[in-house]
Amino acid sequence: MTTFIAGGTGFIGRRLVPRLAQRGEQIVCMDLNPQTADFSALGKQVRVVRGDVSQFDDVMARMTEAKPDRVINLAYFIGSEHPPHVAFKLNILGMDNVFEAARLAGCNRVAYASSLAVNGEQKFYGDRPVTEDDFRHGHVQYAMHKIFNEWQAQDYRDKHGMEITTIRPANVTGPDKIVGSVDHVFCITDPARGKSVKFPYKDAMRCPVHVDEIAEIFARVIMTDKPKHAVYSTGGVAISMGEIAEIVREFLPDAQITFDKETGGKAISGNHLIDNTRLVTEFGIQYRPYRERVLQIINDIRKEQDLPPIRDR
Ligand SMILES: NC(=O)c1ccc[n+]([C@@H]2O[C@H](COP(=O)([O-])OP(=O)(O)OC[C@H]3O[C@@H](n4cnc5c(N)ncnc54)[C@H](O)[C@@H]3O)[C@@H](O)[C@H]2O)c1
Repeated sequence: MTTFIAGGTGFIGRRLVPRLAQRGEQIVCMDLNPQTADFSALGKQVRVVRGDVSQFDDVMARMTEAKPDRVINLAYFIGSEHPPHVAFKLNILGMDNVFEAARLAGCNRVAYASSLAVNGEQKFYGDRPVTEDDFRHGHVQYAMHKIFNEWQAQDYRDKHGMEITTIRPANVTGPDKIVGSVDHVFCITDPARGKSVKFPYKDAMRCPVHVDEIAEIFARVIMTDKPKHAVYSTGGVAISMGEIAEIVREFLPDAQITFDKETGGKAISGNHLIDNTRLVTEFGIQYRPYRERVLQIINDIRKEQDLPPIRDR
């Protein structure tokens, strides 16, 4: 069977493709930047083609050639600072192009990335985990676009009977993450590179989840023909920036991590208490302890710098 992945050479896609290949899938990645991943070890199982999701003709042509059984869209602008017209073309039109091209190519099974950003700040919900059925309070460009994508996916489900699954990753972490929510990542990667780093609030809350876990979730969900739900939150570990810094200092005692203020960050933090019961129950997802993931990221950076790995005690 063939899986077509738009945006498949990015941060998540790079880890997802080998996981699908292990499951015996043929994979066609369509990306504007095809050179940012190297799948040569996977031989003929993976083909990378250049294409722009905001151009319907590109998506349709590539999908017609690939004849996929499953489609995933990961192509997106992360963040909310983008000019409206430019962001709309990739995030809204691009997503619709993928849904419509899949439909016209006869592929019923689609998954795409939404985000925990659809929920906005935690303060809208109080001190409780947010579920997929809660009202979505997101209000910035990125959140509004994801909320519209979710609506559009439901419209395709309702009107065309397509099996489109929404996955809402939390704050994805990994050594090569450079856009989106990056403070929780730089709190690990900068000290691992011997650089000092400073953040506004020690009590700011994040919900990190390692990119390897996200790739595994996409693989399990897309390989399931009829998941029980339309929307899944990945959740992660609710943790403050100060607590992340403490874990980093356990492994790197000389880490220079400072904060402007002890408090004031929690009150304005994004959604970080997330109920992921659906995903855990249906797909058997279990996350490795976050502390292990911090060490993994530190050692990824040390490897880049030809330094020996740090061993856990
Ligand atoms: N990384 C995170 O923390 C995070 C968290 C929540 C949700 N998500 C969502 O997951 C998805 C993937 O995120 P990622 O971190 O892998 O992002 P990424 O930016 O690393 O990857 C996106 C890929 O899309 C490609 N792309 C951009 N414009 C394109 C276009 N016009 N046509 C074709 N390809 C294009 C890029 O070249 C890149 O390879 C996105 O929808 C993102 O919003 C990510």
